[in-house]
Amino acid sequence: MQQLVCVDDYEKLAVKTLPPIAKDYYQSGAGDQNTLKWNREAFARYRIRPRVLRNVSMRDITTKVLGHQVSMPLGISPTAMQRMAHPDGECASARAAEEIGTIFILSTISTSSIEEIAQAAPKAIKWFQLYIYCDRDITLNLIKRAEKAGFSAIVLTVDTPYFGIRRADVRNKFVLPEHLKLANFQGFLSDKINRTNEGSGLNEYVKELFDDTITWDDVKWLKGVTQLPIILKGILTVEDAKLAVDNGIKAIIVSNHGARQIDGTPATIEVLPEIVNAVGDQIEIYLDGGVRQGTDVLKALALGAKMVFFGRPVLWGLANGGFEGVKSVLNLMKSDISAVLGLAGCRSVAEITRDMVIHESYYSRL
Ligand code: FNR
Repeated sequence: MQQLVCVDDYEKLAVKTLPPIAKDYYQSGAGDQNTLKWNREAFARYRIRPRVLRNVSMRDITTKVLGHQVSMPLGISPTAMQRMAHPDGECASARAAEEIGTIFILSTISTSSIEEIAQAAPKAIKWFQLYIYCDRDITLNLIKRAEKAGFSAIVLTVDTPYFGIRRADVRNKFVLPEHLKLANFQGFLSDKINRTNEGSGLNEYVKELFDDTITWDDVKWLKGVTQLPIILKGILTVEDAKLAVDNGIKAIIVSNHGARQIDGTPATIEVLPEIVNAVGDQIEIYLDGGVRQGTDVLKALALGAKMVFFGRPVLWGLANGGFEGVKSVLNLMKSDISAVLGLAGCRSVAEITRDMVIHESYYSRL
């Protein structure tokens, strides 16, 4: 068995074994996929200024997020339809998060239901990612089920009035394989995604059912129908981050949806500093997009993120052994974060400071 030492190793192996339609769906970004590339490249443009001689023999990478103690500052972003990667799908990912002690976010359009997740991983810190359907009763039903099943936050994805155009899915006429269903729904809502008329079946589903009229009024509506804390996922500007604060939101995820919505947006790590500057003292700020190694986590935390998440690496773990695969990816990241923290001169997450990371442009100005 080949030794897998980094997330990229998991990806290389996964793309060899996944059915091509699933592989393309998981890997692709929108349009020319520039932002997809930038999400990674932009991390490399930040340089680390390590401090030395600080006794880093004992290191603690735990942290607190929205009141939850987590074993590391990295959790699992919601990614749809995980049973295409492994028969245990989202249940395996949630169990891995439970065992490792970090946060699992379940997608609305998952292939395991809210209740199956609650049963598979009763002790996991579970957040529910919400898409708002035109039919508010459907939406409300999802929220109430998540509350009942022990999910502790609603992650409202705000960058998706409808889906971005991912060319591979259009070419493949993407549909969910016949043996899988959108498990949170029944009937038409569950199996419409197994059919397509012309392009991507997913985009047709979303266009027909998601509400593309949503505004801040719907955020107010959501606040009125649930006691759970609401996190907005998909904020990329200071303007919207300030509106989130004005609307009494507890936390935001700086995210460009893994570069799958509109190509040409900045990398998330590029916009993080200005958003932190503007609202960092009023709201918890998390980030996802392109996080693949411990140094990425260190950089995001130094620039002011409280926690980071990743999406695709979990799919690569799932494709390489289900629960065990996801657990290995999370453990690998945990070791990497701990190693990097110490080498930067920190014994805890609290010791990571803003001056430990600087943009490469600083050095060209010297
Ligand atoms: C996603 N993402 C996503 N986001 C969301 O809010 N609801 C969803 O159902 C999905 N589904 C989904 C499927 C797949 C295959 C991918 C790759 C992504 C976006 C996801 O939560 C996250 O923002 C990105 O995956 C982060 O980027 P990385 O870590 O994949 O680079």
